[in-house]
Amino acid sequence: MTTFGFIGAGHIGSQVARAVIAAGHDVVIANSRGPETLTELVADLGPRARAATATEAAAAAEVAVVTVPLHALEQIPVEPLAGKVVLDTNNYYFERDGRIEALDRGETTTSGMLQEHLPTSKVAKAFNHILASEITTDGTPAGTPGRRALATSSDHPEAVELVTDLYDQLGFDTVNVGPLSESWRVERDRPAYVARQTAPELVDNLAKANRLP
Ligand SMILES: NC(=O)c1ccc[n+]([C@@H]2O[C@H](COP(=O)([O-])OP(=O)(O)OC[C@H]3O[C@@H](n4cnc5c(N)ncnc54)[C@H](OP(=O)(O)O)[C@@H]3O)[C@@H](O)[C@H]2O)c1
Repeated sequence: MTTFGFIGAGHIGSQVARAVIAAGHDVVIANSRGPETLTELVADLGPRARAATATEAAAAAEVAVVTVPLHALEQIPVEPLAGKVVLDTNNYYFERDGRIEALDRGETTTSGMLQEHLPTSKVAKAFNHILASEITTDGTPAGTPGRRALATSSDHPEAVELVTDLYDQLGFDTVNVGPLSESWRVERDRPAYVARQTAPELVDNLAKANRLP
C-alpha cells in the first residue's frame, strides 16, 4: 500500500485517484481552492481518501501526482516533494496555458519543465495520453490480447519502474519512451496522443512522431 499525494483534483486527478484506490492505495488530494471544496469528491472516493492543501498533499505523498493546468506548474510546492517520485500528467494547451516559447520551439518538454521546477524530485511522465474517463474502464489483466499500453518517460530508472508497476496494477502495459528529453514523442498532437494502442503500436507511434507537431 502506497500513499499517493495528488496536486490537482480535476478530470484526471480524480480518475487516477479512483483507480489507485481501487488498487488498494491511499490518497491525499488537493486543488487550488482548499480542502473544504473537495468534500463531495472525497466522500465519493471513500475512506481511503482525504482532502488537504497542496503543501500537505505533497508532504503526505510517498508518490506524488501533479495534475494541474500547465500554467500552474510554478505554484507546485518544491520542498515537500524533494527526493520523491512525482508523476506528471500535464499537457500543453496554449489556448488554456498561454504561449510557452521554449515548448513552441521544441527546446524543452512539459515534463522537463516540471523536472526543472522540482530539481531534486524524480519526475516521470504518466497518464498524459489517455482520456481521464478511460483510466478506470480500459484496464485489463496482464497478458490479455490487445491490452492497452501507456507511455512513461523519466531521467530516473526507479521512477520508470514505479510507473511500470503502477500501470500494470491498473491494467495497462508500459512503453518507456526514455529520458525526459524524448518525452515530446507522447505530447499533444503526436500519433500516440490519446490513441488506444497496444505496446507494439505505441512503439510504432512514438517512432513516427515529429519534434514539432
Ligand atoms: N482531462 C483529460 O482527459 C486529461 C488527460 C491527460 C492529461 N491531462 C492533463 O492533465 C492536467 C490536468 O487536467 P484536468 O483535465 O484534470 O484539468 P482540470 O479538470 O481543469 O483540473 C485541474 C485541477 O488542478 C487544480 N489546480 C489548478 N491550479 C492549482 C494549484 N496552483 N495548486 C493545486 N491545484 C491546482 C484545480 O483546482 P481548482 O479547481 O480548485 O482550481 C483542479 O483540481 C492538464 O495539464 C491536462 O492537460 C488531461
